Amino acid sequence: MDLPEEYKKGYKDFLNAKIDLSKRPLIPRDETSYWVEIVINEIKKENKEFHCLDLFSGSGCVGISILKNINNCFCDFGEINDDFIEQIKINLGINGVNGKIIKTDVFSNIDSSYDYILANPPYVADERWEEVGEDVKMFEPKLALLGGTRGMNLIRRFLKEAKTFLKDNGKIFMELDEDQMNDIEEIVKDKYSSYQFFKDQFGKYRFIRIEK
Ligand SMILES: C[S@@+](CC[C@H](N)C(=O)[O-])C[C@H]1O[C@@H](n2cnc3c(N)ncnc32)[C@H](O)[C@@H]1O
Repeated sequence: MDLPEEYKKGYKDFLNAKIDLSKRPLIPRDETSYWVEIVINEIKKENKEFHCLDLFSGSGCVGISILKNINNCFCDFGEINDDFIEQIKINLGINGVNGKIIKTDVFSNIDSSYDYILANPPYVADERWEEVGEDVKMFEPKLALLGGTRGMNLIRRFLKEAKTFLKDNGKIFMELDEDQMNDIEEIVKDKYSSYQFFKDQFGKYRFIRIEK
């Protein structure tokens, strides 16, 4: 089994940002860049100052591309793993942008409120681990992928707590797997004012936009 191209090359281009992968975080996916580009366009339209949180940050690709593409935006980065925290620092430097990095277990060390919370949590269901490609299983971090039973452990914690960390009119964008839509709907339907699921560029439901 060969090392993935992106680890060999050492970086991935992601929405005008160069994302170094030397600490071996999850390789940023095209499905992620698809919804992050939608967020960028939404924020740009509103043309005011925004404070974002990129939670489950890994390489930092989500928040760093926001900072690279939008001028009046501030971003905090939340991540549990020390190597990936180092990776985010490296990527902020390479891309010439600034952000606050917070070592946190979901929201445990977060104490601000945000206009946008952007999240790509580990969401592969434990019971579907066998279906994951051999190269992914061999080379990419399990911590970045596995989400417990039905892949819902971190998603559930995240959605239950996130509302407290949103400003009035704050929004959440979260990546997901189609199989999780019913479980997610059960959590958000009474808790948030509105929500909508969206498909990715390959026609699969891949993310949800939630309004506080
Ligand atoms: C799916 S990866 C997303 C990485 C990056 N945001 C992206 O889109 O490519 C999930 C990240 O969440 C981190 N993580 C796992 N458990 C966490 C927790 N309890 N609190 C915060 N971060 C966690 C992992 O280390 C990993 O970097």
